Amino acid sequence: MPVPDKKPGVKRFGVLTGGGDAPGLNAVIRAVVKAAATCNCEVLGLEDSFDGLIEPDRSRLLTPKDCIGILRIGGTILGTTNRGNPFAYPVDTSGGKRDYSSRVVEMYQQLKLDGLVVIGGDGTLGIAHQFFKMGIPIVGVPKTIDNDIVETTNTFGFDTAVSFATDAIDRLHTTAEAHHRVMVVEVMGRYAGWIALYAGVGGGADVILIPEIPFSMEKVAERLLERERRGARFSIVVTAEGAKPIGGKVSLIREAQGEFVERLGGVAALVAADIEKRTGKETRSVVLGHLQRGGAPTSFDRVLATRFGARALELLLAGEFGTMVAFHPPDIVAVPLEKVVGRTRNVPMDFDVVRTARAMGISLGD
Ligand code: F6P
Repeated sequence: MPVPDKKPGVKRFGVLTGGGDAPGLNAVIRAVVKAAATCNCEVLGLEDSFDGLIEPDRSRLLTPKDCIGILRIGGTILGTTNRGNPFAYPVDTSGGKRDYSSRVVEMYQQLKLDGLVVIGGDGTLGIAHQFFKMGIPIVGVPKTIDNDIVETTNTFGFDTAVSFATDAIDRLHTTAEAHHRVMVVEVMGRYAGWIALYAGVGGGADVILIPEIPFSMEKVAERLLERERRGARFSIVVTAEGAKPIGGKVSLIREAQGEFVERLGGVAALVAADIEKRTGKETRSVVLGHLQRGGAPTSFDRVLATRFGARALELLLAGEFGTMVAFHPPDIVAVPLEKVVGRTRNVPMDFDVVRTARAMGISLGD
C-alpha cells in the first residue's frame, strides 16, 4: 500500500530493525510510535532493515493501534536481516559502479522523512553512522543479546537471554545430579562472555569459559575431579560459543564467506569429549542456540527498550543526530555514534562479576 502524503507541519520519522533479532525490538518500535503520537509526529516502519529504504513499497505508517500487544512479543514486526549492508553491494550503472547507499538516501528523501531511528547491533550501527555522514539525521538504539556494544552498560535482549540460559542451567542441574554426569552448556555471545558469565553465576555453574580468558582443559578437569573428591557427583560447565583453549582457535560451524560472517559453535561438544577423556566421568553437551533470542522480553528488557525508544524520539526532535541512546545507570544518555562503531565491549578482567565468580570457587579455566 503506498505511503500517504505527509500532513503539512507534521514531522515524519522512519524506524528500522537490523541484524539478528533480540527480545525487546518490538518494545522499542512501540515506544517510538507512542512517543511520536504524543508529539503529533508520524512514524514510518521500514521493513527488513535498510531493505525498507532500497526496495519500493517496503514501508508503512505505524500508529499506536499497530503497536497494541507487541510490548511482550519477541522478534520484530518490521522484520530484520543481517545481510543488508547497502554499502556492500556495488552495482554497475551507466555512470559507473554504484552501491545501494545513494538509493537509500534518495528513498529517504522521497518518503519525506525527517530522521531515522536505527535499532541494531554493531554492524547496523556502523551502517547508520555511514548514512549519518552522508547527511541522514539518525539516532541509533543498541540491540543485542550479546551485550557487547561499547558506551552502554546494557543492551536490551541481554537480560532475557541470560534469564533463559539460567533457567536452562537450572533444568540441567537436576538431570546432571540424577545421573552423576557433567553437563556442558554452550551459550551465545560471539566474542564476548557476558551471557556465559551472568548465566553461569546466576545458575551456579562450577566452570565458566569465556572468550576473554583462554582456557586450559587440564585446569577444567582438575576442578571437576576436585569436586568429585569433595563428594559432588555432578558438575555444570557453561561455555561461551566464542571461548577458546590457550593457544587455540574459536570453534566454527562455518567460515566467513562473502557477506556471511563466520558462524561460531561447537565448543561445548569438544570440551565435553575432552572432559570425559580426562576425568572418566560421563559428560553431555547442550547448545542453547537461538532459543536464547526467542520469546517474551523480561520486564527489565521491556523497560530498557521503552526508555531507549522514547529517548531516541526526544533526540530526533532535539536535533541531536549521529548519536546512540545508552544506559548509564540510572540515566539514558546520548553518545556519539562515532565512539561506538568498530569496537567491541568485552568483559574486563577486573570486573566485579569476574571477581565474584572466582570468590565463589568457580573455575574460569585459567
Ligand atoms: O549477535 C547475536 C547472535 O545471536 C550471536 O550471539 C550469535 O553468534 C549470532 O547472533 C548468531 O547469528 P545467526 O542468527 O546469523 O546464526
